[in-house]
Amino acid sequence: MSTITIEVSKKYDILVEENLLRRSGEEIRARFPKAEQIMVVTDDTVDGLYGERVCESLGRAGFVVHKYVFPHGEMSKTFAMMVPLVERMAELAMTRSDLIVALGGGVTGDMAGFAAAIYLRGIDFVQIPTTLLSAVDSSVGGKTAVDLTAGKNLAGVFHQPVLVLCDYSTLHSLPEEEFSTGMAEVIKHAVLMDPELFTFLEANDAKAHLGEIIPKNLIIKRAHVMADEFDTGKRQLLNLGHTLAHAVEKLSDYEINHGNAVAIGLAAICKAAHADGLAEDITDRVIFLLKKCGLQTECPFTAAEAVGVLLNDKKRSGQTINLAIPKRIGECYLYKMNVDRLEEFYRSAIG
Ligand SMILES: NC(=O)c1ccc[n+]([C@@H]2O[C@H](COP(=O)([O-])OP(=O)(O)OC[C@H]3O[C@@H](n4cnc5c(N)ncnc54)[C@H](O)[C@@H]3O)[C@@H](O)[C@H]2O)c1
Ligand SMILES: [Zn+2]
Repeated sequence: MSTITIEVSKKYDILVEENLLRRSGEEIRARFPKAEQIMVVTDDTVDGLYGERVCESLGRAGFVVHKYVFPHGEMSKTFAMMVPLVERMAELAMTRSDLIVALGGGVTGDMAGFAAAIYLRGIDFVQIPTTLLSAVDSSVGGKTAVDLTAGKNLAGVFHQPVLVLCDYSTLHSLPEEEFSTGMAEVIKHAVLMDPELFTFLEANDAKAHLGEIIPKNLIIKRAHVMADEFDTGKRQLLNLGHTLAHAVEKLSDYEINHGNAVAIGLAAICKAAHADGLAEDITDRVIFLLKKCGLQTECPFTAAEAVGVLLNDKKRSGQTINLAIPKRIGECYLYKMNVDRLEEFYRSAIG
């Protein structure tokens, strides 16, 4: 087992271990002796696969267990889906010593975390990630959100979990496409901070080494979150490849999923940054690894189309945009670019 401790406004552990679901009750009980009721929040797919295992373990640890199951998918990450959850918790008279457990991917974690942040002005919640993306990215760091009609993640708060239980044996039931989406974030992390991880991924099958790869990713995420909990500085480096990715997702009407959009964004930022004299030439290595993980790297949109969309993005402030630039594999920096230069910058990569 690996234990990684995060120290921000809250201090919490991330446990990474095979078959940890069966011991989830024990681990939670050891840290929360006073909690009586637990609301497990999960989607219908994950409930069918792992709901019983977790609820049984929680029951054995003496918790009164309730479950809120919602239809899987991003469409569910809304206020409308969250309201019955908090209403139910109030009916059950859950208190501030009780807990929410988010069992699932990023959609579940984001919505359950937001509910935990607002119910009684904030109760504790535990993340049990079951997608690779949530294991290496969304379950840690305390960003919670729901989507609004105008865009994704537009309503939310920072609310850190109190514990993260990552049982990576659950990742073997993930559809290939969902695994690839998580790999886009893994490759992003390696480019950001870990050249050895990058080389390891070039030579090995990630699925066979999850017990090593996931903790390495969590250490990278931790470094950014601990340096900048509220995302005003260093944490913005985690947006590597994401500036263009958000535009690609929107332009495709979300037909291109997040993982492929990030892969397109990573390939483009490497190529454009090198062409602009801002970085070494790492494009071929990055594209090779993205493709090896089943990701798409060709951008179907022009720089003019993409920049039009990304200038409306929430991460823009004033006349400049903060871009995460990969200087070399394992080292990145933030670069303020004038928005007037963006189209030309991306044109060298995507045309
Ligand atoms: N809070 C953050 O810091 C943060 C960071 C990145 C992304 N996000 C958010 O995360 C969401 C994406 O997360 P995601 O990709 O995990 O999506 P998701 O939660 O929708 O999960 C993807 C699909 O996989 C299924 N699934 C989950 N675990 C499974 C398993 N073990 N076996 C089989 N199927 C399984 C789910 O039912 C779902 O259909 C987005 O809403 C995004 O905005 C949040
Ligand atoms: Zn991402």
